[in-house]
Amino acid sequence: MSALKKGKILVTGGTGYIGSHTVVELQNSGYEVIILDNLSNSNIKVLVQITAITGKRPQFIQLDLRDKVALTEFISGQGDITGLIHFAASKSVGESVKEPLLYYENNICTLVNLLGAFVGRKINFVFSSSCTVYGQPDVLPVAETAPVKTAESPYGNTKQIGEEILRETADAGSDLKVIALRYFNPVGAHASALIGELPNGVPQNLVPFVTQTAIGKRDFLTVYGDDYDTPDGSCIRDYIHVVDLARAHVAAIARMEAEKMDSVYETFNIGTGNGNSVLEVIHAFQRVNSVALNFRIGAPREGDIMKIWGDVDKAATVLNWKAELTLDDMLSSAWAWEKYINSNPY
Ligand code: NAD
Ligand code: WQD
Repeated sequence: MSALKKGKILVTGGTGYIGSHTVVELQNSGYEVIILDNLSNSNIKVLVQITAITGKRPQFIQLDLRDKVALTEFISGQGDITGLIHFAASKSVGESVKEPLLYYENNICTLVNLLGAFVGRKINFVFSSSCTVYGQPDVLPVAETAPVKTAESPYGNTKQIGEEILRETADAGSDLKVIALRYFNPVGAHASALIGELPNGVPQNLVPFVTQTAIGKRDFLTVYGDDYDTPDGSCIRDYIHVVDLARAHVAAIARMEAEKMDSVYETFNIGTGNGNSVLEVIHAFQRVNSVALNFRIGAPREGDIMKIWGDVDKAATVLNWKAELTLDDMLSSAWAWEKYINSNPY
């Protein structure tokens, strides 16, 4: 690839929360983007919003990755795709416990279909993995070399299996290069407030529940436990701004295009390296947005781990990426998005 010409990147799940933010950063970095999405958990209006932000409307194909024939036919006609960022999946831990087969079909069969469609072709593949593969780490901050523990949910298992499929396929000597990004907790929204995490029923994650409580959609927020062995008793997570996370994907593609990888399969923790408790997030949200939040302490949520934050040195030294936005930036942007989507429902 010449120094100036950037490749064409296929973004599966590109109208979703993290995918849409990544499409913006890819376009702003000079990449041509084509989005593949079945719109099962997103809205076509996101294309309009991305265009409003970047001035460039991404190509879009509405297609379900479970349709192997349609997918293979589509990919065969896309000879100029050099990179692939694979976001498309189902992501609810709770739903995966109730519907494991849905998760193995939508998170594993789709990955196999995608890899099969690119067989014999040189492709740079970025995979959406998750810190959930670590379970409750024995050592914090948790590094990429930490043991992957038995998954606590079918969802978490699909991420572990996905990593194994990709590593083994890359090791088998195909023209596949893979970077797996293990996300910590993505929160917040683009500064324009034109894109963000679309509400889909009752939020399971903390920050969307916080913003929906603050705007009056929910009566109160329940803090799932304040008796953990942490400074204030509530659970600790490594929250990362979705825009920082999006920029990590651009760094991953750039690394592969520059042929700088140390092996055909690499993993990176993508977080801030800082841990914040649930109560710290709540108090920061109230402070930065001058909004009072109605919250109550409740029982611990089954399956929650107590505390996790990432060792992010490898991303800084090898991927040449580090998070730059703060918890205040995350929470002010999340609030701005909640107010926007409340007044401008998709
Ligand atoms: P999202 O639901 O907002 O986006 C996923 C997108 O994929 C949606 O637009 C959906 O319509 C699409 N999709 C789903 N199944 C599809 C299929 N079979 N064919 C085509 N399109 C399909 O989710 P997100 O939060 O943006 O997460 C993106 C990825 O990051 C997922 O793989 C998720 O597991 C992973 N991840 C998310 C988090 C998080 O907290 N959001 C944390 C760690 C990892
Ligand atoms: C964060 C903290 C809750 C809601 C999950 C998935 C993980 C990844 C990110 C996909 C926890 C507490 C939450 C609420 C609360 N998703 N909380 N009240 O559980 O760290 O990770 O989302 O890959 O795989 O497991 O994120 O936002 O659900 O919870 O007190 O109403 O907030 O107990 O301590 P989590 P979360």
